[in-house]
Amino acid sequence: MALKLTNLYKSFGSIRVLEDINIISNKKECIAIIGPNGAGKSTLFKVISGIVKQDIGNVEFNNKNINELNVEKRARLGISQSFQKNSLFLEMTVKESLMLACSHKYKTSFNLIKPLIKNNFISDDAIMIAKDIGLENYLDVQSEFLSYGLQRQLELGIAIACNPKLLLLDEPTAGMSPAETKDIITLIRKLSKDYSIIIVEHDMEVIYNLADKIYVLDRGKLIFEGSPNAVKNSKLVQKVYLGI
Ligand SMILES: Nc1ncnc2c1ncn2[C@@H]1O[C@H](COP(=O)(O)OP(=O)(O)OP(=O)(O)O)[C@@H](O)[C@H]1O
Ligand SMILES: [Mg+2]
Repeated sequence: MALKLTNLYKSFGSIRVLEDINIISNKKECIAIIGPNGAGKSTLFKVISGIVKQDIGNVEFNNKNINELNVEKRARLGISQSFQKNSLFLEMTVKESLMLACSHKYKTSFNLIKPLIKNNFISDDAIMIAKDIGLENYLDVQSEFLSYGLQRQLELGIAIACNPKLLLLDEPTAGMSPAETKDIITLIRKLSKDYSIIIVEHDMEVIYNLADKIYVLDRGKLIFEGSPNAVKNSKLVQKVYLGI
């Protein structure tokens, strides 16, 4: 077991956003969370990564209760979140962005003013990740000049650079063209062999393609869990989420 969420509740003021959430994700499994806008998916991710603290319930990671750990400590345990919105330093190149992300791993600070040669080991690591995410031909390109799809691929690379065990991917295909979507799915599928992944995604084809197990969230409550096939065949899910 990689992640276990037990009886999670979260309210913002008087609005209850998460209610009695129970989820288990096993190692190297790809779990999908789906649900209508405002269902609480991003909030759930934030509770897992430690950005938001639940009111009630437990978050366990690799059999350890991590309720009291902040974002940095959870990241050090291997929980890595990529955000729904673009969160790159646009003026940095692909290589610099990956080097900065890798530098955390070595507990050293990557200094942009230092000649890059002094950061050889971080540089090698960054290049390896660039290859993994298909950006090896863009190493010296500033993020702002990458296409939107490549920017999201770089974000994935940054998440991987932090040496994660669990990747939380919030709508990784949002705003992408069909071709970009295809590329990022291929990339996520590749990553799912090495990492536990929890993905929030509106594109059902993407979900059916990637997920081992799907949880359906509606107004803060889990209303269904099952395999992609079970979700396809569930009248309840079709009514609530797919609007069929
Ligand atoms: N920091 C906050 N303060 C107050 N309300 C919030 C906060 N964050 C989220 N909410 C509210 O919680 C509810 C769930 O939001 P959340 O972003 O988790 O939904 P979501 O399922 O990710 O939606 P979407 O599919 O649109 O991304 C919404 O009603 C939202 O307005
Ligand atoms: Mg969201």
